[in-house]
Amino acid sequence: MSDGSEVLVERVWTTPAGVRLGPLDQIPDPGARNYVLSIGGKRFHGFVVRRGGRAFGYVDRCPHAGLPLAQVLDQYLTPDGGLIACSWHGALFEPQTGACVGGPCVGAKLSPWPVVVVDGRIVTA
Ligand code: FES
Repeated sequence: MSDGSEVLVERVWTTPAGVRLGPLDQIPDPGARNYVLSIGGKRFHGFVVRRGGRAFGYVDRCPHAGLPLAQVLDQYLTPDGGLIACSWHGALFEPQTGACVGGPCVGAKLSPWPVVVVDGRIVTA
């Protein structure tokens, strides 16, 4: 039960380059994984989609209503793994571009979170 004393942690929407997120192999292929980074006492929420040896990162915030996309941990993709799906109102996004291709925000885009794969490890760019 809440006593009303929770401290709201301020959000940030970008990360510095060079933050090591771990091996690409920790993400199923195809699959996605949530990351929460603490940066200077603030919090960044993002996710990375894997496609083979490539990784595509996005800020975990749907352009439709500003909510985090997944209501179940790491469930960012459609059942066939082909698209990113927002669990709230069904927006669909292309994994490689973040472009909304279905649902209530067609034409909008997820905010990119630049990541690269270096020697099999995901690193912020
Ligand atoms: S918040 Fe994502 S579709 Fe509405």
